[in-house]
Amino acid sequence: MTSFPRTSALMQRGAEFLGSEHAILCGAMSWVSERNLVAAISNAGGFGVIACGAMTPDLLDREIAGTKALTAKPFGVNLITMHPQLFDLIEVCSRHGVSHVVLAGGIPPKGSVEAIKAFGAKVLVFAPTLALAKKLLRSGADALVIEGSEAGGHIGPVATSVLVQEFLPSLAEDHIVFVAGGIGRGDMMAAYLEMGASGVQLGTRFACATESIAHPAFKAAFFRANARDAVASVQVDPRLPVIPVRALKNKGTEEFTAKQVEVAKLLDAGTIEMGEAQLQIEHYWAGALRRAVIDGDVENGSLMAGQSVGMVTKEEPVADIVAALLGECEEALARR
Ligand SMILES: Cc1cc2nc3c(=O)[nH]c(=O)nc-3n(C[C@H](O)[C@H](O)[C@H](O)COP(=O)(O)O)c2cc1C
Repeated sequence: MTSFPRTSALMQRGAEFLGSEHAILCGAMSWVSERNLVAAISNAGGFGVIACGAMTPDLLDREIAGTKALTAKPFGVNLITMHPQLFDLIEVCSRHGVSHVVLAGGIPPKGSVEAIKAFGAKVLVFAPTLALAKKLLRSGADALVIEGSEAGGHIGPVATSVLVQEFLPSLAEDHIVFVAGGIGRGDMMAAYLEMGASGVQLGTRFACATESIAHPAFKAAFFRANARDAVASVQVDPRLPVIPVRALKNKGTEEFTAKQVEVAKLLDAGTIEMGEAQLQIEHYWAGALRRAVIDGDVENGSLMAGQSVGMVTKEEPVADIVAALLGECEEALARR
């Protein structure tokens, strides 16, 4: 087996925390991160995370069982904080003895972190600002993921290169911090690890792996695309704050603009409240992503992708991608 001593030394804390060989998470990707990809990542020594997205508790129950049938290695479950059945989903994780839960999509609601820790699982959270990160870590979160705007899917406004400078100097010594967004090669991993990150999280680079069930047309769109094709959605109405989504430009991008106008009108007419308006937008994304990933409708569906998409050029087994990343990281560290 090839070894990566410098990389492993820098990843040691992160790998121990995850219980995996390498501190490389494959971030949850709705519809893509199901049992096959998740198990493949964990079997390759990384850490797979099931995307629960809009799943019902029953579906999550089956997905966890299905993943366990494919791997004996640890994996996590990503839950969206605004899911109306969040606490039922946590209960499903508890029943399965899930070891790590990632809370995404906003500030964890009261009691959620406690409910996860109560069955012994570790909690990973996202935080857009340093102040919030400190607060979440103080109130029980075990690790942090900082994700820059280069990433695919829902994004914040700040680039990874800036976030790491804001967060790592004050948090990395005492806390487990994983860095996500825009990582396409191991050289970049080396830089973040040297700055104190405990590990990294990638999505785009793994979305088209051989084991990913994404439709061949979805994968082909990724192989054709360059960094500049992965654009952030625009907000059309200042009263309707929508979280931007980074995806490959297509007809679906324009349809999202039309969808926002439609929802804003309902808001104006008083037909729906702000919470419902935002939920409608999120449901829109879930449906559009399914159309692209599962049905292969790359014209009208959502091709969520990060700017590292230009570095995704062919279908490769997860193990090869992990090995390439580790090799590049090790080489970069050896050059220092
Ligand atoms: C197709 C796609 C779907 C995604 N869906 C989710 C999701 O459901 N929940 C989530 O927390 N993050 C989601 N993400 C973000 C990833 O988990 C990961 O953090 C991100 O892809 C990392 O940045 P990168 O794309 O630059 O590698 C998604 C990303 C992609 C590309």
